[in-house]
Amino acid sequence: MRGFWRLGLLLGSLLLVAQGQTGMDPWRIQRGGQLYDHWIKAKGVETPAGNHPLWALQTTNTRKGTDTWRCKECHGWDYLGKDGAYGSGSHYTGFVGVLQVREKSLAEIVGILKGATNPKHDFSPYLSEEDLEDLALFLKYGTLDMRTLIDYKAKKPMRGSLTSGKAIYRVCASCHGEDGRAINFLTPENPEYVGTLAKANPQETLHKILNGQPGNFVMPGFSFLLPSQLQDLLAYLQTLPDK
Ligand code: HEC
Ligand code: HEC
Repeated sequence: MRGFWRLGLLLGSLLLVAQGQTGMDPWRIQRGGQLYDHWIKAKGVETPAGNHPLWALQTTNTRKGTDTWRCKECHGWDYLGKDGAYGSGSHYTGFVGVLQVREKSLAEIVGILKGATNPKHDFSPYLSEEDLEDLALFLKYGTLDMRTLIDYKAKKPMRGSLTSGKAIYRVCASCHGEDGRAINFLTPENPEYVGTLAKANPQETLHKILNGQPGNFVMPGFSFLLPSQLQDLLAYLQTLPDK
């Protein structure tokens, strides 16, 4: 009898651990990261009519239509909004960052995405309950403070081992090629390779590496990489040809 009691306790605690882990399911966190990047592409849906209703609050960023609906366009690749890389330049809007919502509960974050704090910030007509939860999981567990890894002025990682970066890049090379030029993200006349993006936009590069490419079931996310490994990889990517 005592043995069964212990077995029950063991199974019970395993179940609790398993539930705890589904709460932080890395696949859902990555999917949330892809929705954050471009939910229209990630879901394969049409862009809602017109600009996002909050877009009219600013005049500095002159993009229109689809871009205005992307979380990243208002809150940044580094989740810092006006306090990060989008604090100046053509992407400037003056909108807040979202890094700080890690402190909130998943339910509170879902609430914000349903317009609880501002009715114009209601995404529930476009995103399912599962999508909103994936986004909340991403915002709670999938973000990081890129200012601790990247020197924003120099656009370079603050540190990085090329030896370690090259070793990690082997898995990328199977698709992107030894020198990163096997996949061109833009056009033949105006190519953009992984080396190009790593130099031009380290924050976007890290977001894509961690979460994968939306609407593209080829490029996975590598969210298991440690912050120091992200720096090593970024340092190595910046040595690859950009043309
Ligand atoms: C058109 C610009 C725009 C888009 C697109 C946008 N947001 Fe926001 N977001 C804002 C603004 C402005 C606020 C501040 C709103 C307020 O409460 O007045 C905000 C607030 C937030 C907050 C709360 C921040 C805090 O500290 O309280 C979160 C979280 C958030 N947005 C996440 C998202 C996510 C996820 C998406 C994509 C599904 C998204 N936003 C899309 C403009 C935008
Ligand atoms: C299984 C193949 C595969 C692997 C492995 C892979 N990628 Fe990708 N990657 C792709 C594809 C396909 C795209 C999407 C290209 C597109 O959208 O035009 C992509 C897109 C990207 C982008 C986004 C480019 C952009 O401008 O949108 C970055 C950055 C990137 N990969 C870096 C990496 C790095 C670094 C690794 C290794 C840690 C890696 N990839 C591993 C196939 C792969």
